[in-house]
Amino acid sequence: MSYFDVVKNTPLKGEPVILGIETSCDETAVAITRGGREILADEIISSASEHARFGGVVPEIASRAHTEAVYTATENALKSAGLAMSDIDAVAVTKGAGLLGALLVGVSFAKTLAFSFNLPLIPVSHIRGHIAAAYLTDKTLEPPFITILASGGHTAIVKAENYYDLKVLGRTVDDAVGEAFDKVARILGLKYPGGPNVERLAKDGKNVIKLPKMLGNNYQGSEFDFSYSGLKTAIINYVHGETQKGKEINKADVACSFQHAAIDVLIEKAFKAIRITGYKTLAVSGGVGANGYLRDTLTERAEKEKIKLVLPEKRYCTDNAAMICAEGYLQYKKRNFADLSLNAQAVVEF
Ligand code: KG4
Ligand code: ZN
Repeated sequence: MSYFDVVKNTPLKGEPVILGIETSCDETAVAITRGGREILADEIISSASEHARFGGVVPEIASRAHTEAVYTATENALKSAGLAMSDIDAVAVTKGAGLLGALLVGVSFAKTLAFSFNLPLIPVSHIRGHIAAAYLTDKTLEPPFITILASGGHTAIVKAENYYDLKVLGRTVDDAVGEAFDKVARILGLKYPGGPNVERLAKDGKNVIKLPKMLGNNYQGSEFDFSYSGLKTAIINYVHGETQKGKEINKADVACSFQHAAIDVLIEKAFKAIRITGYKTLAVSGGVGANGYLRDTLTERAEKEKIKLVLPEKRYCTDNAAMICAEGYLQYKKRNFADLSLNAQAVVEF
């Protein structure tokens, strides 16, 4: 059988066992699910500690780490699920967005597996994967819903009209919210990954520093758009200004004030989207979804407004491969299979 026949003729199963591979940034992740919601294995080998001393992800180090870890992660996933490759029905892989060299490791490995075992290969958008993590959390969740997509590379309010049609109501016009957390962490002398460290420090601080409003009244774009670069600059200016005046900076107050400014606007716009669409469900996706202040504030607000809130476990907010299986399953049902010419893409538009 040629691989062309696999792509064209593999019969679809109702609840396929999907092996998913994610290597877009600094986590080498491999997961196995039955259908799109039941996790059978979920392995992550992170190279974050190797990047810490550089203050951010070094693409070449990430690629090398994926090369070293991808086989082991796959073996571990199969072992922990008690399965062999002969039990797998399809291979899903993150095609992008992400670091090109890092993505290429996962894509090449996935192609090799698919070709060797005559399995359909499902290319998955990392962004859609984050959004699909909600299906792993709430096994009964069905669209429509609004999702806050808040990661290191993306920030958007997205309307999931059904399993496939995702409409972006608004997005950041410059930095992503996670990127802003990482940059502010650096300014405050905190280690990479910055988000969790800013959150930790913010717990000891107060929201007392006045920061500029995001996108002024004259902004012509969508009312759901964001801008985080001004916020970051305001923090830099504040820290430099106070230092020049010889004043001691209360870093915890800076972290807390920044966190409020960065997160409150996400919450405001998400609930505005809920009001405008009349949808009754709000989900959270992406690494910043692990933020405790965001989670607590959303929980309170959702209770008050009688909105169903889907908060994926922190592990499924940050990069993982189970979310790639969840989205891979949706694409499987549409037979969105790739052939062996599949390439990685640094940028994907949802
Ligand atoms: O979704 P993700 O794991 O990777 C991307 O696709 O970008 O998101 C990573 C981002 C990083 O910027 C990280 O600092 C941020 O999510 N992050 C957090 C927290 N945990 C991770 N930001 C704020 N608070 C957190 N607890
Ligand atoms: Zn991600």
